[in-house]
Amino acid sequence: MLFSERLLTNIKFANSLAVLTGAGISAESRVPTFRGENGLWKRYRPEDLATAEAFLSNPQLVWDWYRYRRNIISQVTPNPGHYALVDLETHIKDFTLITQNVDNLHRIAGSETIEELHGNIMRNRCVDCNRRYNDNELPHMDVPKCSCGGMIRPDVVLFGDLLPADVLARSIAASRRCDVFISIGTSALVHPAASLPIEAKNCGAYVVEINFEKTVISDRVDESIIGQSGEILPLLINELGFQ
Ligand code: OAD
Repeated sequence: MLFSERLLTNIKFANSLAVLTGAGISAESRVPTFRGENGLWKRYRPEDLATAEAFLSNPQLVWDWYRYRRNIISQVTPNPGHYALVDLETHIKDFTLITQNVDNLHRIAGSETIEELHGNIMRNRCVDCNRRYNDNELPHMDVPKCSCGGMIRPDVVLFGDLLPADVLARSIAASRRCDVFISIGTSALVHPAASLPIEAKNCGAYVVEINFEKTVISDRVDESIIGQSGEILPLLINELGFQ
């Protein structure tokens, strides 16, 4: 059997469960991941495109990059992995979905308690007054300007930015109090997200990883399941009788 009795029992009796997702969960929706053979960071330099300094020195380039990614994302839909997490949420009293993804696919699938650690590519904000803009409210300019005169940027975390403090605090709290923690489709290389499974483990949670390949945390978790999340997660939900 793919899943251990221990995993199934721990999930069935969990009062609190936290999930961390990374780019891998959206790979089967054809959203490119960052690392690996076909990853975005093989073709583009993060320091040119995804840093706070890059936005200040060349906002046009950074906007072009996010428009390119937004265009990809606007054409894709959630996959069975995203939907399986919606099913999981409906069966666990205290459920938190922590995601590093900015692609909005968990929301589109119907997940409700979502902590977006790295923001959301469909939202925007003014760097000066912090006014929020939905996509359809954005002024039509190469680098959109706020009514206060400040530059508007995508509401995503760039390297060099602090993570949203409230989102991070809730994510750490959920990781500390959960009985089961599931890390899905992340290389577990970017902190502080990458430290959440370890935080959960140190606080006594049963920690499971679902990934296409071994990662730096595979040897530190209780169970490492190798495979595609879009296949594994629906099987897990089925095995749990949680459909
Ligand atoms: P990565 O691209 O680093 O890792 C994706 C992981 O998903 C890898 O470990 C793959 O093996 C795994 N994977 C790929 N396809 C999969 C599938 N179908 N099922 C299961 N696993 C699969 O992406 P993240 O870990 O999300 O940050 O990257 C973390 C952060 O680094 C991102 O949020 C982004 C990036 O730079 C910022 O932009 C701030």
